[in-house]
Amino acid sequence: MIIGVLNQKGGVGKTTIAVNLAATLAKTGSRVLLVDADPQGSALAWSSARALAPIFSVVGMAKPTLHRDLPDIAKDYEVVVIDGAPRVNELGRAAILASDVVLIPVQPSPYDIWAAADTVALIREAQQFKPNLKGVFAINRKIANTAIGRDVVTALEAFGDIPVLTAALHQRVIYAESAGQGLSVIEVAPHGDAAREIAKLASQLFNQQERKVA
Ligand SMILES: Nc1ncnc2c1ncn2[C@@H]1O[C@H](COP(=O)(O)OP(=O)(O)OP(=O)(O)O)[C@@H](O)[C@H]1O
Ligand SMILES: [Mg+2]
Repeated sequence: MIIGVLNQKGGVGKTTIAVNLAATLAKTGSRVLLVDADPQGSALAWSSARALAPIFSVVGMAKPTLHRDLPDIAKDYEVVVIDGAPRVNELGRAAILASDVVLIPVQPSPYDIWAAADTVALIREAQQFKPNLKGVFAINRKIANTAIGRDVVTALEAFGDIPVLTAALHQRVIYAESAGQGLSVIEVAPHGDAAREIAKLASQLFNQQERKVA
């Protein structure tokens, strides 16, 4: 399965989720490839900061031909996670077309809700060529028990065809701290809240896909 973590808006948590999702899946025994499709090279920088042996491979492929190049490389892996680039539509389109499912991180903020429409438009455009392509929203940096936390879900549900995963990621300092050492939250605190919420996100994403295929 190829999971594209994409949002045309910058700074929403694409790299944070891509790295931690890849780590969680690798820790549960899957052969995982993380594709850095962002010219900023954040996932590659994460990998370079790492002193420990890698638990999954990371390659840089920030190219508008990603959808043509990736299938050949992806066949050696059970799961491929793409860390997408913000803003550049050409790269966003290629990453979306390369994906089976597009995971769209959204922060609980009106700006993120408004900006989500751009990524949804790219998904709908890609669905013309790839009808089985799915999109799902995941809330990132949630702060528990806030009105905006509930409003964001209602606003995103209005897109209709793109479900919102109930497994949200909360605002936690461990995400930034672990990244600085090229580590994932599951390695730093395997039984912590962050590791648990990422594992829940991964399992919901896979269950969703199975239901859609059935
Ligand atoms: N759940 C979270 N809790 C705390 N900090 C977070 C969380 N998610 C992301 N961050 C922090 O927010 C910043 C932006 O996150 P990240 O780099 O993952 O976003 P991005 O969408 O990949 O950005 P870009 O569009 O520039 O590629 C980083 O400093 C990251 O550590
Ligand atoms: Mg990024």
